[in-house]
Amino acid sequence: MEGENKSKIAIVGSGLIGQNWAMIFASVGYRVAIYDVVPEQLTRAHALIKDTLGRYEKEGHLRGKLTSTEQIQNITACSSLTDCLEGAVHVQECVPEDLNLKVTVFQELDKHCSNGMVVASSSSCLPASSFTESLEHRNNMLVAHPINPPYFIPLVEIVPAPWTDQAVVNKTRALMENIGQSPVTLKYEAPGFALNRMQYAIINESWNMYQTGLLSAEDIDRVCHTGLGLRYAFIGPLETMHLNANGMVDYCQRYADGAEKVQKETFKQIPVKYDIPTAEKIQEEFESYLPLDKIPQRRTWRDGWLAALASLKLADDKK
Ligand code: NAI
Repeated sequence: MEGENKSKIAIVGSGLIGQNWAMIFASVGYRVAIYDVVPEQLTRAHALIKDTLGRYEKEGHLRGKLTSTEQIQNITACSSLTDCLEGAVHVQECVPEDLNLKVTVFQELDKHCSNGMVVASSSSCLPASSFTESLEHRNNMLVAHPINPPYFIPLVEIVPAPWTDQAVVNKTRALMENIGQSPVTLKYEAPGFALNRMQYAIINESWNMYQTGLLSAEDIDRVCHTGLGLRYAFIGPLETMHLNANGMVDYCQRYADGAEKVQKETFKQIPVKYDIPTAEKIQEEFESYLPLDKIPQRRTWRDGWLAALASLKLADDKK
């Protein structure tokens, strides 16, 4: 139950993602301990979390039933890793995406790991097998990859290493559901996990359409944010096929030949190279309506809409 004194969660690394995880866990009453190797960063992160929760409360975007003051009381900044990990049931590692650093940090976490403790990495690309293989508690370790900003985008990709216990996978998935995230479980490690595999397929075709001069950069993005993106905000590509005919089989009977023809004619150029001259050209185009210095403002605008969309979806879930 929310508000109840739940188990302790340890967050290691207090940057963008560590702060988000802390807020999410605290929103449903978990006791959160957060640690950072840079003490000033930890102080800054705690202050930022407090401000952000207060702002979300005013804007009506605060998660959970607790007030922002109650939520911030659930979050303790720890100046030592030992204090942070002491008694935690789940550790969420959030240090930068650098293999050597992950190896070192996981060696340290392994020393503190007790039997029931699950250690999850927020890693975007590095699979758990690349930094846990030689560790004593490797069966308790896996990836739980959030999507930025996790406070408003609930997907979490749970990616076990070949040696992760199934019970640990199940426990992590249940925990993610308990805090209001939306986990998916990969059966094995795959480059890019799931979201980035889909994302790269879309970026590849966007790049291809730009390079062949089919559409401007602005219009390519418009295809997504006023079309495909909206279509997929509530149901995925497979359900879309299913609903756009009388079921999936009917869809394939009607449209498979056409889809195959488009693909044969279109995807000759894959793999697409993300080359710098094209990147510069696109950035030059952005300069007229989204110059580099307007990016932070645009992110705030985006997150505001994502927050509104998340509230709408939440209201629909409760029906
Ligand atoms: P960040 O750079 O904002 O924060 C990392 C924090 O870790 C910093 O505060 C740093 O001082 C701290 N740190 C460095 N070494 C440490 C150590 N040995 N012990 C404790 N703390 C240490 O990075 P960010 O963006 O929060 O990313 C963290 C992880 O989450 C990465 O693996 C990243 O790939 C992943 N991720 C990032 C997303 C994003 O959009 N930023 C999205 C999803 C996952």
